[in-house]
Formats: sequence, C-alpha cells, structure tokens
Amino acid sequence: MEQFDVIVIGAGAAGMMCAATAASRGRRVALIDHATKLAEKIRISGGGRCNFTNLHAGPANYVSDNPHFCRSALTRYTPQDFLSLLKKYQVAWHEKHKGQLFCDESAEEIIRVLKSECDKAGVRWKMPVSVDSIEQQTSGFILKTSAGEFSAESVVLASGGLSIPKIGATDFAYRIARQFELKIVEPRPALVPLTFAQSVWAPFVPLAGISLEVDISTGTKKNKITFREDLLFTHRGLSGPAILQISSYWEPGTPLTINLLPEIDLTPALLEQKSGNKKQLSTVLTQYMPARLAEGLLVSCAIDGGGRMADLSDKVLRRIGDAVNQWQLTPDGTEGYRKAEVTRGGIDTRELSQQTMMVQKVAGLFVVGEAMDVTGWLGGYNFQWAWASGYVAGQSA
Ligand code: FDA
Repeated sequence: MEQFDVIVIGAGAAGMMCAATAASRGRRVALIDHATKLAEKIRISGGGRCNFTNLHAGPANYVSDNPHFCRSALTRYTPQDFLSLLKKYQVAWHEKHKGQLFCDESAEEIIRVLKSECDKAGVRWKMPVSVDSIEQQTSGFILKTSAGEFSAESVVLASGGLSIPKIGATDFAYRIARQFELKIVEPRPALVPLTFAQSVWAPFVPLAGISLEVDISTGTKKNKITFREDLLFTHRGLSGPAILQISSYWEPGTPLTINLLPEIDLTPALLEQKSGNKKQLSTVLTQYMPARLAEGLLVSCAIDGGGRMADLSDKVLRRIGDAVNQWQLTPDGTEGYRKAEVTRGGIDTRELSQQTMMVQKVAGLFVVGEAMDVTGWLGGYNFQWAWASGYVAGQSA
C-alpha cells in the first residue's frame, strides 16, 4: 500500500492549491482526480481567459448559510497573494471591470502555474484514478481506488460541486459527507440562466439578443438584494450577468423586479413630454431603449401601438413607466446544472473549522472549494475562494 501524509481528491482549482501548499511544507502529497484532462473548469472559465480573482473579494460577496465563515481564509490568502504567484510565472493579466481580473492570454496559464507549483513541491499525480471508498482508521484513512490502496493521515475533499456534469462534476464530496454524518445545505444550481413559462415569455421572444444594463432585485424588504449588471434577452428567458448574479439569491416561486432604466424615472419623464406631443409613445420610448424592446413592452402591457402621446391618459403612461422601472416577473425554474457556473449549498460550513477547513468531528478530514456551502458572486470570487480555502487547508493538512 502506498503511504502519504495527505491525499487530496479533486485536482481542480482548490485541490491543486491545497496540494502544492501542503507539499511545500514537506508533506508527502498525492493528488487524485478521475478526469483524464487536468482542471477543465479552469480551462473553460472566463470565456477561456479565466477570471481568476476579484480585487474586492470579501465575505459580502459570498452566499452561505454561515456568512462569516469565509472571512478568515479570505484574509489569510488575498487576491494580492494570488497576483504575487502569477508574477513569479510572468502571467500577464488585466482588470475588466469591478475588480475582475482576467489572463491576457489564456486560462491555460493558470493551470500551468498551479501544475508547476505542485510539481516543484513534489506532489504525486494520480489521474485518472477513481476512489471507491474512504475508511477512517485509528489514525488516518485508507482509500480503495482504481489504482490500488493508499493510506494517509489527512484526506482533503476537493471534488467541487455539481455544475457541468459533462466535464466531470460528481456528488462525491456529498456522498463522503453523508458517510461521516456531516450536514449538507441543499445543493442548487447557481450563477445560472432562469427560465419562464412559455405563456409568460411569449411576448418577449422577439426581443432575443437585446442586452442592456439594469437593476435587478429579489427578496423581501428585509433581505432585498440588488445588482446593477447587463441583462440579456434570450429565446427561452433571461440571461447575462444580471440574471446569473440574482439566480444565486432567487427562491423558486418568488418574483424578480427589474428596473430596465435605472438612471431614469420614466413616468415623470413621459408625463412631462405629453402635452401637445403628436409623436407615438413607441417613438418617444426609443429615446430611452432599443425600438424592439419598446414594442415588446407595449405588447406586454396591452397598449396597442402606443398611440399619440397627447391622446394617452396619465394612467397609461404610468403603466408603461412602472413596466419599465419596476418590471416584475416570476421565473419557473433554472437551466439546471448543465448551464450553472456553480453549485449553491454543499457541505455545511458549521461542520468545519474556519481556520483550517478541517471537519470538527473527523480529525484529518478537510473540505475545500466549491464542495462546501460557500458560493461566490460572478466575477472571480469563486476562484478566490478556491485559492483561499485550498491554501489554508494546505497549511494544516
Ligand atoms: P473544480 O470543479 O474546479 O474541481 C473539482 C475536481 O474534482 C475536478 O477536476 C473533477 O474532475 C474532480 N472530481 C469530481 N468528482 C470526482 C470524483 N468522484 N473522483 C475524483 N475526482 C473528482 N469562477 C470564477 O471565479 N471565475 C470564472 O471566470 C469562472 N468561470 C466559470 C465558467 C464556467 C463555465 C464554470 C462551469 C464555472 C466557472 N467558475 C468561475 C466557477 C469555478 O470554476 C469553480 O467555482 C471552481 O472551479 C471551483 O473549484 P473547485 O476546486 O472546488 O472545484
């Protein structure tokens, strides 16, 4: 039986960071993954350029049932720490907006950096290898795998969440969590397009392709959350950063409120222009938005063709103003894990130490990255969590 100090299961973002950190402390580390290709999620991230961190990452940018859990790790491994690592490998990067950092060239560079860090520190690669079972011993663990039996003092679950099963996502971490009787916060697709019943969406189908910056909100007065981001109309529903962000907070059966013109209060703007105005309402609306969107809104408000401004009642103008500034609609679901960038929920962080990521009641068992109930906003926050949680676990495992 091969013996290691640490076995990390999952050679993705968090797993490679954790393995390299533990091995650089002199620990004998094996990194197991069932995939044939290394770190596919990093490769396809950020449109191939990997939005590898966000300069403003802090606890407020993460969704979790235990919102302060992530603070310690995020403080101990910061975006600047990851930038120092990239500097060592001369990886060029740029800020897109809102603190989002991308590679100038390709996401492959991030994989190269992490792989080199693992190689330099002497991490033993075990892939493609699948793990059949993990058995706890009086001290440490025995793993039965497709490559034989391994023993280790520490085991790190770094196998991620459920999004994009076709590139290797599995429920492995949750299965092991159940074996050790750890609580799991119900996993759900997040950062995912939302869908609408056909009857609700029919008037908006011709708007597919339109994109504009909106304020999008969900929740009750007490826990309302709003993002200002781009919204994209598609044939099936809504997508774009605005929808992906809000999807992590949206509860099934509840409405979204969308302000299609966040900088303009449309009702007073229309009322001001009403008197003696011979222009059609649809023409006036095109001052503010694409003509196709104006037409779609008039259809959805059952305001036929718009009519001349001067002939329209204040009530009609208020109706269109509300439809633009407070558009309310209720999704009927999400596009699911096939399209979700991440999984919301996962292993309950109340089971873990926030200093080390070790399971409190199972000495030597650690959880890192997306497998746990810490879900970042869109914009590099999820990788920053993978680096930070992988690093602090690697310091202790
Ligand atoms: P990750 O999923 O990276 O790694 C898990 C590893 O475990 C995989 O290699 C998998 O093969 C392996 N594994 C799974 N089950 C196993 C089993 N049973 N046995 C052995 N191995 C197993 N985030 C961000 O911050 N910026 C961005 O630009 C993007 N872009 C993006 C685009 C797309 C299309 C997706 C799907 C996701 C993103 N993300 C993102 C999210 C980001 O990719 C994600 O949060 C991190 O990769 C999570 O890192 P982990 O290491 O936890 O899991």
